[in-house]
Amino acid sequence: MEVESLMAAQKEGSEGMRRGGGKAKKRLFIKTYGCQMNVYDSTRMADVLAPLGYEAVDSPRGADMVILNTCHIREKAAEKVFSELGRLRAFKQERAEDGGEMLLAVAGCVAQAEGEEILRRAPQVDLVFGPQTYHRLPEMVAMTARAGDGREGGGRGVLDIDFPAESKFDHLPEETSGQGAAAFVSVQEGCDKFCSFCVVPYTRGSEISRPVAQIVAEAKRLAEGGVREVTLLGQNVNAWHGEGADGREWGLGELLFRLSEIPGLDRLRYTTSHPRDMDDALIAAHRDLPKLMPYLHLPVQSGSDRILKAMNRKHTGDDYRRLIDRIREARPDIAMSGDFIVGFPGETDQDFEDTMQLVRDVTYAQAFSFKYSPRPGTPGADLGDQVPEAVKNERLQALQALLTEQQHAFVKSLVGREMDVLLEKPGRQPGQRVGRSPWLQPVIVDEKAGEIGDIIHVRITQAGPNSLFAEPVS
Ligand code: 5AD
Ligand code: SF4
Repeated sequence: MEVESLMAAQKEGSEGMRRGGGKAKKRLFIKTYGCQMNVYDSTRMADVLAPLGYEAVDSPRGADMVILNTCHIREKAAEKVFSELGRLRAFKQERAEDGGEMLLAVAGCVAQAEGEEILRRAPQVDLVFGPQTYHRLPEMVAMTARAGDGREGGGRGVLDIDFPAESKFDHLPEETSGQGAAAFVSVQEGCDKFCSFCVVPYTRGSEISRPVAQIVAEAKRLAEGGVREVTLLGQNVNAWHGEGADGREWGLGELLFRLSEIPGLDRLRYTTSHPRDMDDALIAAHRDLPKLMPYLHLPVQSGSDRILKAMNRKHTGDDYRRLIDRIREARPDIAMSGDFIVGFPGETDQDFEDTMQLVRDVTYAQAFSFKYSPRPGTPGADLGDQVPEAVKNERLQALQALLTEQQHAFVKSLVGREMDVLLEKPGRQPGQRVGRSPWLQPVIVDEKAGEIGDIIHVRITQAGPNSLFAEPVS
């Protein structure tokens, strides 16, 4: 699922800068595509640019800098970026006619994959940089200034798609972006698993884990700033490992235990995990840590052992079923979420039926499903026996119908139940607030029920199509 989000949250953070005064204000517009890691990266780009005087605005029109933070996971990603760049070209010209300048940047995974091609096809682009180099934005911006006015159309934009030996996390400034009640913390990046359909190992690079002390410090700062819930992010988050305070090698389970000690931080989540990295300590964390929310996104992709093998997943459908049994034993109220791909090359009707059967066996509270899209440079793209589009469509429809039915059943089962809800923002209707259930559904309550940032105890009164309604219980 593609998320396009404006960086509204950054506005608050830039207040401090405004008060700090000094530098001329510059307007920054970031459009984010793709996963939560990209959302996190966008906030950190804003942090890097804040000392240069950039503050977030919610329209590209009249902006001094526009960044498209792109996603390459599925089809047509690059084409979407090129058409957006076409639209932005007009704003850039408009800005130049007003005597100003709009820097146009392409970041993220399309930038990493297409690099030079973007500067060639879209000469209005000033900067192209990948997910691992955005800490160098100040230098890149300075380089565009030195390139001078001849740059427009001259194809002399700055390109930085290295995989530097040093982690960007060692160079990023502390967060300045305003945070709400819930925040992301990236703890792991990249992937060494090389599933045969996936472009991530090529665009995000090989696996790195942030050190414990860095993660704990960031989580503490967030908690001190009022954040109550942190979601740990990683392409393969449960492959995270690092040296713990006790000198031993920790996995994600141990890290969660450590983070659960931070005062004020009351809810922990993590995403996205791989079944092969669900170790005993992580399952124990689900059993022993009330702060670890009972919701787990654990993609399986397919229920067919033949297809799982071709996908290079290195586990079977039954391995996954047994794993879910162990997790549910540890935390009986856990809700499962997952990702599925239909129409991987060679997928037969029987293979697809195996996926449907796995979904029936596991039952998901929520899940995402996609048609296989050959990604340039991945082994899957070179396989024969690609599945016709019409068959992919049919299978996707059938799978989504089943998953939607399960999702509705789960939501309905919450009506009448009591639970804690973290209030995150004002509701769309006046007089309402929206919070989040332990299982990630938005929950709407009367604003008198509590302030944003409060965790309140409620009873669910009604389930709507996309959210729950609740009343406080004392
Ligand atoms: N085609 C379709 N879906 C894909 N995903 C990753 N690569 C592809 C692809 N080539 C899906 C997987 C993954 C999710 C983030 O995107 O289900 O878990
Ligand atoms: Fe892609 Fe597989 Fe790595 Fe997930 S585990 S990021 S699907 S290669």
